[in-house]
Amino acid sequence: MKVDLAYTGNIDPNSTIEEAREARRTLETGSGKGSHMRGWLNLPRRTTKKDLLSLADTAREIRRNDALVVLGIGGSNLGAQAVIDALVSPFASDFPIFFGGNHLDPDYHTALLDHLSDKRYCVNVISKSGNTMEPAIALRLFRQDLTDRFGPEEAGKLVLVTTGSKTGCLNDIARVEGLTTFVVPEDVGGRFSVLTPVGLLPMAVAGLDVGSLVDGAREISEILRADDNDTADSNPALAYAAYRLACYRAGKKNEVLVSFTPRLRSLCEWWRQLFGESEGKDGKGIFPATSTYTTDLHSMGQWMQDGERNVMETFIDIVASGDLIIPASSSDMDGLGHLAGRPMREVNRTAVEGAIRAHRDGGVPCARIEIPSLDARNMGALLYMFEYACGISAYAMGVNPFDQPGVEAFKKNMKDLL
Ligand code: PA5
Repeated sequence: MKVDLAYTGNIDPNSTIEEAREARRTLETGSGKGSHMRGWLNLPRRTTKKDLLSLADTAREIRRNDALVVLGIGGSNLGAQAVIDALVSPFASDFPIFFGGNHLDPDYHTALLDHLSDKRYCVNVISKSGNTMEPAIALRLFRQDLTDRFGPEEAGKLVLVTTGSKTGCLNDIARVEGLTTFVVPEDVGGRFSVLTPVGLLPMAVAGLDVGSLVDGAREISEILRADDNDTADSNPALAYAAYRLACYRAGKKNEVLVSFTPRLRSLCEWWRQLFGESEGKDGKGIFPATSTYTTDLHSMGQWMQDGERNVMETFIDIVASGDLIIPASSSDMDGLGHLAGRPMREVNRTAVEGAIRAHRDGGVPCARIEIPSLDARNMGALLYMFEYACGISAYAMGVNPFDQPGVEAFKKNMKDLL
């Protein structure tokens, strides 16, 4: 993976590299706020073959049924969804996985329950705190459905719980009712938990190679965390964090993460939560937004080119993707004869280059994250790189990357109001 800052325009990421280095030291030495929540740093190393085998066994059991419903919100569902959407064809998935409990819309849940009414499905309810309202309400709905159709004992076998090991209602329910349970380590927060069973179990059920995903994360963690690896050229996370800080200081208070495939829409949403919730506090933080090009160039392109200059863009550029060839046409009446016989990916990558050049000329600092291809190993590396960059970036901005007092305030208000 490569972070290419050649397009940064007149912003100098070297101006902030020293601060980013200092923030990296804070992250690594545990001398900053929230340091007890840095367990995610070691997850790729800590995940054993035995852990992966146990996930694979459970995934196999789940796949004996007709579908899996994942109930979770925020850090408890976005990671799994990001990887599944990136790596499983939306038109040819061999095992259906549905997401629920990530909002409070009754119509959506009615439609999902209707869709599942002739299917025997499993539920994986995921909540680190075990007290979050959206998945808890959804759990009631799906348990009732399973209990009505299969009886309480069988329903109990179809519900799997992923939660924190200590407190929380979900933990109590799982213990009292003897439900199969996976643990979210106490020192790993929700949005940093994609490499725990929170993300890995649904991914394994989707048939993905979670071993390679963890390997990819481990390989890059060794590079990013190496003591002496503190130059922007050799450490993509450090480079990205320094670049963001330099842009922020120059008044670029918004960042758009852009991908050129709808397969990465959910990855961008996962990134948005990671950076938004980690940095947006104490009156600070870059506002994270996402776009899928070229689709959104036809809706947001004008703004990006010519709107208020308070934004930076980060492009995810996939080097190798599909070998679909643009066919020849006898008439060439569409004016595209020059593209006949060329791979469509070449046109898509030209769009990356074209958008970067245009927007940079329009005064938007641009960075490009290049990944060789979309596969489990590279996804693992990308997820870890973003997490590590986020830790550095938040510390460099002077905030605690690992708490979320604003989210807790919403949760408390909901409880009081209801
Ligand atoms: O990152 C976080 O901590 C949050 O976004 C949580 O993931 C989210 O609020 C869901 O919390 P929980 O997993 O406790 O249900």
